[in-house]
Formats: sequence, C-alpha cells, structure tokens
Amino acid sequence: MTTEQKVYQLLINHSNTYLSGEEISNQLGLSRTAIWKAINNLKDKGYEILSKPRFGYQLVDNGKLDENFIHKWMKSNFALTLLDTVDSTNTQAKLLAAADKPQVIIANEQTAGYGRYRRDFSSPKNDGIYMSILLSNQPDETLNPGLLTTATAMAIYYAIQECFHISPQIKWVNDILINNKKICGILTEGVADLESGYISRIVVGIGINYTTPLSDFPQDIQDKVGSLRELASKHHVSRNHFIASILNHFSVLYQDYQAGAFMDEYRKASIVIGKEVTIQQASKTITGTVATINNDGNLILTDGQIFTSGEVTKIRY
Ligand code: BTN
Repeated sequence: MTTEQKVYQLLINHSNTYLSGEEISNQLGLSRTAIWKAINNLKDKGYEILSKPRFGYQLVDNGKLDENFIHKWMKSNFALTLLDTVDSTNTQAKLLAAADKPQVIIANEQTAGYGRYRRDFSSPKNDGIYMSILLSNQPDETLNPGLLTTATAMAIYYAIQECFHISPQIKWVNDILINNKKICGILTEGVADLESGYISRIVVGIGINYTTPLSDFPQDIQDKVGSLRELASKHHVSRNHFIASILNHFSVLYQDYQAGAFMDEYRKASIVIGKEVTIQQASKTITGTVATINNDGNLILTDGQIFTSGEVTKIRY
C-alpha cells in the first residue's frame, strides 16, 4: 500500500470524526510531512477532506459513489463493481459469468436504463441509485422470480425504515412509493444458457430516485414520481450508506426467500390490499377489489381471480 492509500484507509475507518496529524503519524509510523503530502494528493483526486486546526482531518462521504464507503457499511460479502456511465447495469450484469457469490454492478448514470415492459427508466447522473445484483441459479433450486422481486422490495423497504425512520408503501408487485409517488422500481430478469436453455443466472435490477430533483424527470411522469431527496439530507444518509443498507437486508432475505417469511410485512406495506384497482395484463384490462397477496406474491381479487404478473395502473382511494 502506498502512503496515500494507508492515509485514505485510516480516514475511511474514522470518517465521521477528526483524526489529528499526530494520531495519523503515530498509527502509520509516517512523518507529518508525508501525511500532509498524502492528504493534498487525495484532495487533488477529488476527495473531500476537511481540516480543522487542533482537530486534524476528516474524510467526508459527500454523495459521490465510493466503493470504500459502501464497504465501510456493508456486512455481506457481495462483490462490487462501480462504474460511472453505462448503458444499463442490468445489460452489463447479464454479460457476466456466474460466480460463487452475488456480484453487484452500480452506476452513477445510465444512458439506456430500462424497466418493466422495456419502458425507459430515467437515470440522471449523480443523483440516483442504479444497481443490478447478479445471482447464480443452481439446477437444484426452484426459481421464483416473482418472490425474489418481492424479497428485493422488502430489502429496500427495511433499508428505508433503517436509514430514514419511515415506512414506505409497496404497489404490487415491485414499486416502492412514498406519499403515493414512485421512488423505486425493480426489474428481475433471467439469463438462459444458450445451449441448454436453462436459466443459470438471475439479474435483479434496482433503480432509485435518491437525490434526483423533480425537474430531472421527463415532464410526462413528474406528477407520478418522487425522490428520497429531503429524507436523505435530513438524516445525512449518503448513497453509499443507503446502498450498503439495501445489500445488507437483501443478503439476509435472499438466503431463504422461497419461504416468503417476509410476506406478512409485505402485505402490511401494500397500498393495494382492500382497494379497487385496475390491472393491465398483456392486452387485458381488469378491474376489481384486491382481497390479498398470497405467500407466493400473487395478487388475488375478491372475485377469486389470481394474478401472477401484471401491472396495477389505477388505484381508487
Ligand atoms: C420498473 O420500474 O419498471 C423497473 C425499473 C428498474 C430500473 C433498474 S435501474 C438499474 C437496472 N438497470 C436497468 O436498466 N434497469 C434496472
């Protein structure tokens, strides 16, 4: 490790407190001049380091995506790849080979982000969280993509509770809402092996409007979307911290997602249960009242109709 890396590592480990030049010098066995130079080099590279006479230095998690800050909060052993601009993290994740642990691709901007039904997913630079988790699907597992999406929604639900102390709503099947505005969408895709046709990999894509200002969204969706902007600044939670929180919850829920132990909480968070809704399924439009969502994540109407997929396009309050 270079002096710069050593200083950086120490500052990351103490990123919410000041560390004096003397402490850094004692801990690393380096001269004060070497430390001062390393700090200046880090600042030149764009790291925000506060310096205060008599207190020393503090590295600030200033909103830029940073793998080291994510690792600081992360408890799971997922492999991370951070990219600045990509077409779509789902597209990139689908190109990767399966590995023994989940691989996560995170981007600062997407130029061709997409959602369900191949709709564009607006992914402006610096303000959103665009990430895809690549999971391998072993032949002895019974894949349940719907329930995996639901488990992911719950991971985000718990991360919002943990970081912002509020409970969001979930619109079946995959949208997270705050005050009836969509702040997050999830898209789960299977990748089949060319020869056998077997779905050997699954990509779970998560798109979150984090600090995105409303004006950055296309005009036609501005009345339907929201972002975590105010909450994130009120609670001083950076994107790095929030990403780690989602991955921590996801790693726990994923272990046994097939059992659907989170479904009671999911039903409590559901915005559609008990409401009259319009559901779009392929070219069919159905209206009815939602009785419940069963433990497989299927939506059941009071007239007995069961939906394994589809989109709730209207809710009557
Ligand atoms: C939806 O609301 O329809 C799902 C949106 C999913 C968007 C995420 S952003 C990260 C990943 N990459 C993509 O291109 N899509 C998903």
